[in-house]
Amino acid sequence: TKPNKEFPSDFLWGSASAAYQVEGAWDEDGKGRSVWDEFVRIPGKTFKATTGDKAVDHYHRMEEDVRLMKEMGLKTYRFSIAWTRIFPDGNGEVNEEGVAFYNRLIDELINNDITPMITVYHWDLPQALENEYGGWESRHIVDDFVHYAKTLFERFGDRVKHWIVLNEQNVFTAHGWLMATHPPGKVNDRKTFYQVNHHAFMAHAKSVIALKSLWSDAMVGSSFAFGPSYAKSDKPEDAMAKMDYDDLQSYYWMDVYGYGRYPRAALAQLRSEGVAPVFEEGDEEILKEAAQLVDFMGVNYYQTCVAEYNPIDGVGMTNTMNTTGKKGTSTVQGVPGLYKNPQNEHLPTTDWDWTIDPEGLRFACRDITSRYDLPIVISENGLGAFDKLEEGKVHDPYRIDYLKRHLIELKKAIDEGCRVLAYCTWSFTDLLSWLNGYQKRYGFVYVDREEDENEGTLNRIPKDSYYWYKYTIETNGAEL
Ligand code: BG6
Repeated sequence: TKPNKEFPSDFLWGSASAAYQVEGAWDEDGKGRSVWDEFVRIPGKTFKATTGDKAVDHYHRMEEDVRLMKEMGLKTYRFSIAWTRIFPDGNGEVNEEGVAFYNRLIDELINNDITPMITVYHWDLPQALENEYGGWESRHIVDDFVHYAKTLFERFGDRVKHWIVLNEQNVFTAHGWLMATHPPGKVNDRKTFYQVNHHAFMAHAKSVIALKSLWSDAMVGSSFAFGPSYAKSDKPEDAMAKMDYDDLQSYYWMDVYGYGRYPRAALAQLRSEGVAPVFEEGDEEILKEAAQLVDFMGVNYYQTCVAEYNPIDGVGMTNTMNTTGKKGTSTVQGVPGLYKNPQNEHLPTTDWDWTIDPEGLRFACRDITSRYDLPIVISENGLGAFDKLEEGKVHDPYRIDYLKRHLIELKKAIDEGCRVLAYCTWSFTDLLSWLNGYQKRYGFVYVDREEDENEGTLNRIPKDSYYWYKYTIETNGAEL
């Protein structure tokens, strides 16, 4: 018999976005300011000082965007909610106009047979909470976060069954407290970094518990930016470097979501450096309880990395973010005495030096399946590129090739026993790349705009990849 090339019959072919990157309307209908609204105004932080004030104007073009999803045959759309639309100051009175916008979006999706998948938090913390108590740095954030999350569950949970609590906790904390490239812009503050992460884990866990007590049929997880590692060589020291990297950079997050506890070796390392997080009484039990309740591991997959032994006098954590938009000179990062991450010599890279590794997606799914035995939602995967609008069309064969090769590997993972519920590309329309403006594009749908707020019509133009994905969905992946 011929192998079945089709994906599971209920497979959720999807695409994703985040509020700050698409909505615009940054100060409309009662919305408060987020930390990103402030951060992008600090000179030098983003490419050509681009802000998300208008973004791709999804707030006003939502119906048109959903119509394009419908015409494509999309099965699920993952989007995030701007906390500051619901609670302009982070807590207090609900802003009903904000709730109304998301009600319209959810209903529009459902009326068009598209399953809504909501991210509760995609980085746009209310600035008021940052001012009040330092945002994520204070334990107070946990209660405010859970109150916000519960409000979403109460208002939208009758129609929304797929929930992602946090987007890339590892990324927003690393960029915010180690690399200074996201708010609050701190450098190498490892002690705070681990404490902030503990608060975020508690916010995740308590939200999971709250959701399940309201809607036992809901499905929930958080999305992790998983960059699996390969040992540089067969030297035992490189195998150990891989293990250290995995414990400190991957399992440190996924073990808490999946098992409800930190990896022991990572905690021992952090204790030895005096930077381990402080627990409150009862935290351990809450993390464990939530881990029993999560339904899937959310994975944003872009690339893998290499782990190599790093001598005690070796390289440290350096800022490798490249906001100039040019192909940067890659610097090697690492933790002295443990590991460093050199470029993989066997793999090509994108125009922004991100390793392209379709097999890494399969590897990621296999690793999660072996370790946690949880279903998987691929909540992001995609290629950022310099797309060109030529005579009203965008030809993006490189994106088709990228997605196709990742999907072929994903199908192998499914055939090997991984339970993959959904695959969301990043992204549906073009959107604001946090630090790279609009020159780095990810969408199936081109949006006519430049960094300059007044340039471009904001018209939507489906790229070649739009039609390719439409056909892939129609054939349920059988012809990849
Ligand atoms: C993920 C984020 O880290 O990567 C997205 O969840 C982001 O919000 C995406 O846009 C791509 O990153 P970048 O820097 O290429 O825009």
